[in-house]
Amino acid sequence: MRLKLQDLTRQFGKKTAVDAVSVDIPSGQMVGVIGRSGAGKSTLLRMINRLADPTAGSIHFGDVEVSGLRGSALRHWRRDCAMIFQQFNLVPRLDVMTNVLLGRLDHRSTLSSLLNLFTREERLMAIAALERLGIEQTALQAAGTLSGGQQQRVAIARALMQRPKMLLADEPIASLDPLNAKIVMDSLRDINRNEGITVLTNLHTLDTARSYCERIIGMSQGRVVFDGTPDELTSDAIHSIYGVEHASQFDETMTSTAISTSGATEMSADPHPAGNLSLAPA
Ligand SMILES: Nc1ncnc2c1ncn2[C@@H]1O[C@H](COP(=O)(O)OP(=O)(O)O)[C@@H](O)[C@H]1O
Ligand SMILES: [Mg+2]
Repeated sequence: MRLKLQDLTRQFGKKTAVDAVSVDIPSGQMVGVIGRSGAGKSTLLRMINRLADPTAGSIHFGDVEVSGLRGSALRHWRRDCAMIFQQFNLVPRLDVMTNVLLGRLDHRSTLSSLLNLFTREERLMAIAALERLGIEQTALQAAGTLSGGQQQRVAIARALMQRPKMLLADEPIASLDPLNAKIVMDSLRDINRNEGITVLTNLHTLDTARSYCERIIGMSQGRVVFDGTPDELTSDAIHSIYGVEHASQFDETMTSTAISTSGATEMSADPHPAGNLSLAPA
């Protein structure tokens, strides 16, 4: 199913954070959204997930008009488009397993949730998700004691428990060191490729967007000023995204997390080759 944004706009007082954005994202794409701080990237993602409501315009997923959803339909939508944040948003004192199981909350009755009655299938599903991300050995640790990279992988495992159709990630690697950034981006790419889940991720680094995303959307002052493949991202396009006034001093390495594609690859040789997620219950 396609995600279709049409003239999507959000104002905060007089400030137009997102300005008439129209994009059409087919199912299964891996899309990076880039732009300066304040360009409107987070607001765009938050509107898709309905954490923020549009001032104008529409969001369609297939035939469903997302901006009109209420109640249980809205909860279903939020389940379908799982969101990952820069700061992970785990419950630090709870163990990793419980944090991951919390991704099932919206699939179950309030009573069984309150009683903490996760089923055997759900527990197996959580273990499979942790294995998939290579962090099953952390299952019983308090989430807050893990490294940032591990915490972000827990957050991705939790998102997978929602069986989402789409993953929205708001600068998922902005707090991570280069090696962990690579592991997290590799995980998102694996999920995109193997499960066919659409990934829409805001990225503050150009080189990450270039190496991981088949499509890059560049935003400036709330507008889409570039929409194309990494190959089409010429220096002119980069200047239109990051601002012509800095054209002369613009240096692509300034937006770099310096993810090394040589050394880091060897270090993180994937001990968990991406198989199909055998997360049984739907
Ligand atoms: N809740 C809010 N209230 C007022 N202004 C906001 C709010 N959220 C975002 N903005 C403004 O909207 C613009 C876009 O912000 P944001 O979407 O966070 O950009 P980005 O994620 O690209 O840094 C900024 O000027 C920001 O200050
Ligand atoms: Mg942001």
